Amino acid sequence: MNKEKTYKPIGIFDSGFGGLTVMKEIVKELPEYDFLYLGDNARAPYGTRSFETVYDYTLECVKHLFDKGCELVILACNTASAKALRTIQQKDLPLIAPEKRVLGVIRPTTEIIGNYSKTKHIGVLGTPGTVSSGSYLVEIEKFFPDVKVYQEACPMWVPLIENNECDNAGADYFIKKHVEALMTKSDKIDTIILGCTHYPLITEKIKQYLPANVQLLSQGKIVAAGLKNYLFRHPEIEIKCSKNASFNFYTTDLPEIFDKAATLFFGKEVKSKHLQL
Ligand code: DGL
Repeated sequence: MNKEKTYKPIGIFDSGFGGLTVMKEIVKELPEYDFLYLGDNARAPYGTRSFETVYDYTLECVKHLFDKGCELVILACNTASAKALRTIQQKDLPLIAPEKRVLGVIRPTTEIIGNYSKTKHIGVLGTPGTVSSGSYLVEIEKFFPDVKVYQEACPMWVPLIENNECDNAGADYFIKKHVEALMTKSDKIDTIILGCTHYPLITEKIKQYLPANVQLLSQGKIVAAGLKNYLFRHPEIEIKCSKNASFNFYTTDLPEIFDKAATLFFGKEVKSKHLQL
């Protein structure tokens, strides 16, 4: 059997390391599938870039994942989901790959988030791009019109995580600053979404500055459950995804640098290849 032909991994894309926090949970939920991760580390962070740039970069990476056999790609990046997903789904896919699918992380999160909050006051921590897009406000309003949403943009958090600086004292200044700024927007907030897939890597640091009654939610498990449900509802897509329980990684930057941090974040040994853009 020609292995090349049967290799149809589920693509998982992020600007850098953050999507690994989602992939880790997806692999647990759907261990039998093949996965192909692409981190655009050479051009991260995306969170402070314009709509056009995020769209261009994301589309380019999605096309690379398609070229490598992916029939289904998950944008495991809130910034790309907020700024590029809709255009890719509505404008690009019908032209370049009408049979393939691209999904994001904001929709599965907002579909269920209202169920977590008793006070119906929810906070969102995200990149400037995600926050300014207003995607969380719009999507949560659709599913939970009675929920009030407060947002805080944290422009320094992804650079600190990408540069492995989170455990240094300087990082605490920026973490405290934004957590406190969010909490001053309403004393009724009882649930906070980590609306950036990089942020689970600093969960414990964020918790230090939160009252004990506030729950902090990462998207990994939510997105993994959403994907499982999607594959169940779409057997025509599910049947195309190959199942050899493998995972492979590509980075647009140096593999040796990616592998060191990625192994830490993913919890298993990562050996990536370089993808030339
Ligand atoms: N992980 C991306 C997200 O979820 C980070 C974006 C960035 O590169 O700034 O938004």
